[in-house]
Amino acid sequence: MDAFITKMCTLNRDCDESAIIREAADLLRAGELVAFPTETVYGLGANALQPSAVAKIFAAKGRPSRNPLIVHVLTTSLARDLVTAWPDTAARLAEAFWPGPLTLVLPRTRAIPDIVTGGSNTVGLRVPAHPVARKIIALADLPIAAPSANRSNAISPTRAEHVLADLKGRIPLIVDGGPTNNVESTVIDLSAGLPRLLRPGPISTDVLKEVLGAEPTMAEGSVPIPEDAPLPSPGQLRVHYAPSTPSVMLPADEADALVAKLSASGKVVARLTSRSTEPCSPMTVALLPHWQDWQERLYDALHMLDELGADIIVVDEPPRNPQWAAVYDRLKRACARGVPW
Ligand code: TXA
Ligand code: MG
Repeated sequence: MDAFITKMCTLNRDCDESAIIREAADLLRAGELVAFPTETVYGLGANALQPSAVAKIFAAKGRPSRNPLIVHVLTTSLARDLVTAWPDTAARLAEAFWPGPLTLVLPRTRAIPDIVTGGSNTVGLRVPAHPVARKIIALADLPIAAPSANRSNAISPTRAEHVLADLKGRIPLIVDGGPTNNVESTVIDLSAGLPRLLRPGPISTDVLKEVLGAEPTMAEGSVPIPEDAPLPSPGQLRVHYAPSTPSVMLPADEADALVAKLSASGKVVARLTSRSTEPCSPMTVALLPHWQDWQERLYDALHMLDELGADIIVVDEPPRNPQWAAVYDRLKRACARGVPW
């Protein structure tokens, strides 16, 4: 479906910022798609109020139509206009974390078309913090539906080049605001009673607990979902955020042993680890042994390793605690396909 010559513009290098933000806003107002940076990953935006524009997101990404999209707005008060309930928990979380990497799922008004929510009566809302995202949304003067700007189930994009590699020919414009450095927003469902964590993210459960007074309950992970049922939350799909290279995650010692065994049998092995390697192998990305470094550089590292064309990517299994939860969650899904041999 190569319908477009995709234009990619690096702000203040190939193009003047105000001109490209105007172009992005005009395209969004005309019902077209624009990729832009947020403080988590690059998003693929469309006018959330126009079903035909939102349909283009699903087509460009190859995304199943029952997966709901997050709607991005500039302020808490604009978010409130799109929902029929605003519980105290929403008020507290919005006050503490917006603008920022938090998505709140709440009952939607009829202004939000069915196609945005995959038929669900709720909508995911986020007020992003990234200045480029904010300028585009402000000038478009619309709620913007924006999933991560990658083909469905692939690794989320943290650079404009990642978006181009995945969506070239499928969208008219990529606004390159430089690398972004986080995993996708934390998603919390406030639509039914107690707050429920649908996707771990940059705002961890221990930080949420400080604001909510109690930890959110956890959505069940990886439950089998009937084909035609609306998804509870597709970030919950078993395989997601995945490199095309077969990937496995193991405790570091077992990972070392597997790397040695596979290398001895002639396999080309790429490695994501916290162990510093001396001399540093070109097949290894070594991150600092701290959750923050992994969270900020995870997708960049996975993109780099995937591009090496190795037979396998072997990843150190991160610790299981609230601070590492988002990294653990993404890696578990990235490695869920297993190894074909
Ligand atoms: O950081 C982010 O959230 C990025 C940037 C671009 O904002 N966006 C993003 O969108 O990650 P996407 O579509 O890749 O992931 C949206 C997640 C999915 O897990 C989806 O199921 C969940 O949010 N979600 C959205 N609306 C929902 C709803 N009404 N009910 C349940 N889950 C919802
Ligand atoms: Mg995504």
